[in-house]
Parts: sequence; structure tokens; C-alpha cells
Amino acid sequence: MFMRKTVYFIEGDGIGPEVFRVARQVIDAAVAKSYSDGRGLDWSELLAGEKAHAETGSYLPEATLEALKTAELAMKGPLATPVSGGIRSLNVALRQTLDLYACIRPIKYFEGIESPVKRPDLVDMTVFRENTEDVYAGIEYQANTPEARKLLAFLRDEMGAKVDLAAGVGVKPMTEKGSKRLVKKAIEFAVAQGKPSVTLVHKGNIMKFTEGAFRLWGYELAAAEFADVTCTEKDSVPGKVIIKDRIADAMFQEALIRPEQYSVLATPNLNGDYISDALAAQVGGLGMAPGVNMSDSLAFYEATHGTAPTIAGQDKANPCSLVLCGAMLLEHVGWHEAAQAIHAAVNTVIGKKTVTVDLATQMQDATTVGCTAFGDLLLSAM
Ligand code: NAI
Repeated sequence: MFMRKTVYFIEGDGIGPEVFRVARQVIDAAVAKSYSDGRGLDWSELLAGEKAHAETGSYLPEATLEALKTAELAMKGPLATPVSGGIRSLNVALRQTLDLYACIRPIKYFEGIESPVKRPDLVDMTVFRENTEDVYAGIEYQANTPEARKLLAFLRDEMGAKVDLAAGVGVKPMTEKGSKRLVKKAIEFAVAQGKPSVTLVHKGNIMKFTEGAFRLWGYELAAAEFADVTCTEKDSVPGKVIIKDRIADAMFQEALIRPEQYSVLATPNLNGDYISDALAAQVGGLGMAPGVNMSDSLAFYEATHGTAPTIAGQDKANPCSLVLCGAMLLEHVGWHEAAQAIHAAVNTVIGKKTVTVDLATQMQDATTVGCTAFGDLLLSAM
């Protein structure tokens, strides 16, 4: 029934090929170790980035996009943003073309990592960030341009807004459809993974018709589609996923003071951008956090770090981000034992303080190993 799954992969630029080689070995080993029923991953390479440019003349060949449009699982290393050429950012192009509307980042502490807080071990949160709307929609006009003045004059003259015509101006579109499909993904995840709560993180006290609407639509969606498995904080029912909400600034305090009370966070685009990096920093793991961008059909895992050009090709890079992406992918397809095996191995190896240079510089008495050697330690820990 399970058997084999195809994972399309883009190895990426810079340190991409190094970290991908290690990650694939570790992910395949976790599956092989956990099951003897023949299941496994079939990796199928797609071209993007510098390798694609060298081989096809395009940074993002049409064949890659076509394959991804019908794919269920994909994984990518970091892609360099081309300094010249038609594409502003390959990552943005992929996100838009494939309608990858939910950006999901799990944040969890690994024993041994230096953290700026006293109890990083209490952090175990998964952020679901809306990925297509909000102030990221790109509708923005520079101050004192004809476009900005025209829009501001309309707001002042037609809509009665009090606004300075010399302002720069951006638009923050947020739709019911965009908000609800994101919250739906977050609740589905919480239910499937047995998580205790989903918190809607918004700034609705100030931005009532965007962030406030996000909160409202979130509760509406939960009541309409998940009434049997969710409840609100006020009428909490044991065993059901509690849907709650927090104002964004309060959420940043809560994350520091009472992290154990939060599990899944569902957020508009900008709040999610801030809180996922803040939480990753809180557990000391900014450079090793995994992530996935999802549409309704595709789960596209990606390293959250960049191409690290200064250490590329030197076998120094930390492969944890992609390795942990693998654990996320395995959870997603329901191969929990294999995902567990990866987490346990990362815990063991980091706990022994034999780590790549980026982590070693943050730890007392650590032993520095290269990317390949770190991968070998993960393999032997399994
Ligand atoms: P970066 O993440 O590549 O590097 C920032 C710092 O972290 C550097 O000191 C680097 O050596 C270190 N670092 C990053 N990943 C590491 C790893 N796995 N192990 C050890 N050290 C690591 O960010 P930067 O320098 O801003 O960007 C470089 C290129 O990557 C740019 O072209 C940028 O556009 C691209 N980029 C791509 C991303 C993606 O594809 N998702 C994300 C971020 C940047």
C-alpha cells in the first residue's frame, strides 16, 4: 500500500549539492532502518538554478515547472538569486507559479545547542505562515512618484482618508479564501499529528479588516469544517484541538514566557515571517531549521538557509536543515518511525557536540567535523 514515493529534487547552488548528498543518504537510511516492507523513496532530479543555466540556458526550465505541477513531493537545496537575467528570485517564481500558499516551519530544540533563553526545550511549535498575500503582494509605490500621489489623492479625495500625499504607500490585501485555506492546513496538521492547539496570530486590534478578518475567518473555518474535532479556549473540551488567538505583539512575549502553551501557530504572511525566525533563534537553530511550502497538491521542502558561497565546495556546511526537511517529509507521508529515527540521530550527534563549524563556534568544548563526517555520524547513530 505505501511502498514507494517519488521525491523530485533540486540540489541547489553553492553548498546545495554537498548538503543534499548527505541528506539523501540519511533520509534513505532512516526509511531502510525503520521498515522491511519494501517502502522507500525514488529520487528524481529536476534542474533549477546555476546547474540548469549551465545545461539549458535557463535558470528555471519549463520542464522543471511542468514536473512540479503534477508532483506530490519535492525537495530543494538553496538557490542563488541570479544577479542578472529575467527572474527576480527563483524561490518567489516557484512559490507563485505553483501556488505554494502555506509556508510551514517546525521549531524544536536540540539538546546541546547554545540558546539565548533558559528553557529552549519548552519550545515545540509549528508555524503555518500564509505565503501569497498581505504586504508581500508587491503592491507598493515609492514616495512622491505619480503612482503614489495618484493613489493617495484617490484615498483622500474619494474615500475621505486623512493621508499625506508625500507618503510612500503599500497595500495589504488579505482574502477570506487565502486566510481560510491556510488555517485549514494548520488545523488538519494539528488533528493529524495530535497537537493540542492552533493559535491564530494577528494584529486585528489595529488592522481590523485584514488581520482582524484573518482571526474571524479562522474561527469561522474551524466551526464550519472542524466542529467535531476542535473547540475554543473558552469552551475547551478534553481531546479536542483548542482554537485560540493572540495579538501578534503578545504572542512574541508568550513565546518567551510560556512557550509550552503554544503548539501550532497560524499566521498572516508578515507575522509569520517575524515569528518563525524569532522562534528559530530562541532555540539557537536559525541555520538548521527545516521548512516546507505547500499548495493543495504539492509539499515542497526546502533548506531555509542560503547557498553560503564562502564555504561552498569545502565540505564544511551543516546539512541539518535538509536532513530535518526529510523528517518533515516522512511525517507528512505518515512514515513516523523513519522521521523519529532522523530526530533521534540528530539529537544524539548534536548532544555529543561533534558538529559542523557553524554550530561548533556556538558551543563550548565542541569537536568540529565536516559535512560528510557529520552525515556519517548521523548514519552510525541510526
Ligand atoms: P546564507 O544563508 O547563504 O549565509 C548566511 C551565513 O550563514 C553565511 O555565513 C553562511 O556561511 C552561513 N550558512 C548558511 N547556511 C549554512 C549551512 N548550512 N552550514 C553552515 N553555514 C551556513 O545567506 P546569504 O549569504 O544572504 O545568501 C547567499 C545566497 O543564497 C544569495 O544568492 C541568496 O539570494 C540565496 N538564498 C537562498 C535561499 C533559498 O534558496 N531558500 C534563502 C536565503 C538566501
